[in-house]
Amino acid sequence: MLKVGEKLYEGKAKILYATEDPALVIQYFKDDATAFNAQKRGTIMDKGVCNNKISSALFQVMEQAGVPTHFVKQLSDREMLVKRLEIIPLEVTMRNITAGGMSRMLGIEEGIVLKQPVFEWHYKSDPLGDPLMNDDHILALQLATTQELETIRRLSSKVNDTLKTYFATRGIDLVDFKLEFGRYRGHILLGDEISPDTCRFWEQGTKKKLDKDRFRRDLGDVEAAYQEMLRRVLG
Ligand code: TMP
Repeated sequence: MLKVGEKLYEGKAKILYATEDPALVIQYFKDDATAFNAQKRGTIMDKGVCNNKISSALFQVMEQAGVPTHFVKQLSDREMLVKRLEIIPLEVTMRNITAGGMSRMLGIEEGIVLKQPVFEWHYKSDPLGDPLMNDDHILALQLATTQELETIRRLSSKVNDTLKTYFATRGIDLVDFKLEFGRYRGHILLGDEISPDTCRFWEQGTKKKLDKDRFRRDLGDVEAAYQEMLRRVLG
């Protein structure tokens, strides 16, 4: 039996706590920030509050767009009630503009608008640094079924289309983002968070970075960028 309030899991940016309902958990958002597989560590003041509020709003936008998520409700500044998923150990990235890992891997400059979105599977493994993998790796290792991969691809495209439009109307280019999915009562749900920790946001016109790259790259004004993204989402 789970004890109410028992810590079930602590990750780099969030903690999961048990509730009286075994199917539901509380996702608590911390101010801790890490980069480069936790080789770089720091704190971003009120990041947890911003990410909780931004994610809560964006999960509701996703539900309205027909993407089922683990979100149940926002409980407080730093807490969100979510369905307890069996997390699939894959990270999906979707890219609309070159940056970060894709620019490094292929030796291309950042900021090139891609002719079509780029979908990537990564194996969720901190010791290995979340390496890129393809469908064959996933199926051969039985990490997910063909049908689950199809569902995740379809939902990820829907997330991209919806978020791109949503942020465009708020003066932001959605460069790329990372998603995690899990199983819940036979269905695939979008889990984790959608926030400046897991997306790249560039202000239209100025190209100013309004996401965790300000922390990763020591660009300054880190807290202000999270607050600005919260303002754009709520505003
Ligand atoms: P990447 O260019 O470093 O592969 O990152 C792609 C997107 O995924 C970017 O929006 C940041 C996000 N991301 C995470 O959410 N977690 C991670 O561990 C990494 C490396 C990237």
